[in-house]
Amino acid sequence: MKGFSKRIESIQEYYFSKKLKEVNRLREEGKPIINMGIGSPDLPPHPDVVESMHRSSLLATSHGYQGYQGIPALRSAYADFYKRHYSVTLSPDTEVLPLLGSKEGIMHISMTFLNEGDQVLVPNPGYPTYTSVTKMLTAVPVYYDLKPENHWYPDFEELEKRDLTKVKIMWVNYPHMPTGAKADLKVFEKLIAFGRKHQIIIVNDNPYSFVLENHPKSIFQIEGAKEVALELNSLSKTSNMAGWRVGFVSGKAEWIAAITKVKSNMDSGMFLGIQQGAISAMALGKDWYDGLNGIYSERRKLVWDFAEKLGLEFERDTAGMFVWAKLPEGKKSDDFVDDLLYNKSIFVTPGYIFGSQGEGYVRFSLCVKEEQIKEAINRI
Ligand SMILES: Cc1ncc(COP(=O)(O)O)c(C=O)c1O
Repeated sequence: MKGFSKRIESIQEYYFSKKLKEVNRLREEGKPIINMGIGSPDLPPHPDVVESMHRSSLLATSHGYQGYQGIPALRSAYADFYKRHYSVTLSPDTEVLPLLGSKEGIMHISMTFLNEGDQVLVPNPGYPTYTSVTKMLTAVPVYYDLKPENHWYPDFEELEKRDLTKVKIMWVNYPHMPTGAKADLKVFEKLIAFGRKHQIIIVNDNPYSFVLENHPKSIFQIEGAKEVALELNSLSKTSNMAGWRVGFVSGKAEWIAAITKVKSNMDSGMFLGIQQGAISAMALGKDWYDGLNGIYSERRKLVWDFAEKLGLEFERDTAGMFVWAKLPEGKKSDDFVDDLLYNKSIFVTPGYIFGSQGEGYVRFSLCVKEEQIKEAINRI
């Protein structure tokens, strides 16, 4: 055999794919593990969602291949959802593409636009997939630092000093994971102006807009944004459907058509029952999101207590399903996490996996029941 591709030499197995094996091994050995690591909602979807999926699954006609762009009703439900929650108009026929989760959209968008050697602006700290996908496609990640003193927003003055001629895509993600920085229309405005000036595609990865946020925002709320931006969205977090794998990319028709060209060569559509469930999820009203946020907000108070007990510092005015906390000066996040895991059987995520700017921080997930957070507090 002649070996693996060069491509996989440039990347590592996803942190959670590796670390959760260890966490599960400890659990099998009898350790009472509390997993505050990963952002996979522990709560179920709304019963209507499950019911729609169930009803569809019972039909003999539901089990064939589906179209590459999803059924028209799914795209319309998404366009209605954007209209209702963000006051943004999207054409369901040309400006919306359903995805099997937004994570795969990062790959499809990158495959659509990047050639070898193209540069990609990646947030540091940020979601690790932006980097790994860029590297797998032999493009080059170039990082822009997000710092607490700038509310974890891009430093445009610093960016303007750079040679940006080779940059084709800039990944942004507000509400921001892992820091919880909120989406801000003024920042979106600056991003759109920056993208237009330097002919860079701004992609806002937006899976957290409803989580602990009463005013969900879309980058398309900025005038003229469609000329410059794409937006990913997802039902994973806001509808408790992470395992269903439903996401979307939206943007101008020409770009969506190009992304569809790539995607149509990679999968063969989404199971109809899942599409029907997703339609029901997007029809849910404000009370659904308020209900979830009530639960997350109670959990977050407990996580704040936990973080305080651990001697960590954190901001309270944040969105999303994590608490991002600063370790005492000089502490390494990996050491802190292993210490907590091996001595207290509590797993949290080390900040370094999100980039060098994440070192010195840890991330607590809110996808953990209150009793477990209380138990974690008692263990300290
Ligand atoms: C910033 C960010 N983008 C994208 C994703 C992927 O979400 P999905 O389940 O829609 O693929 C995640 C999941 O953790 C995320 O945190």
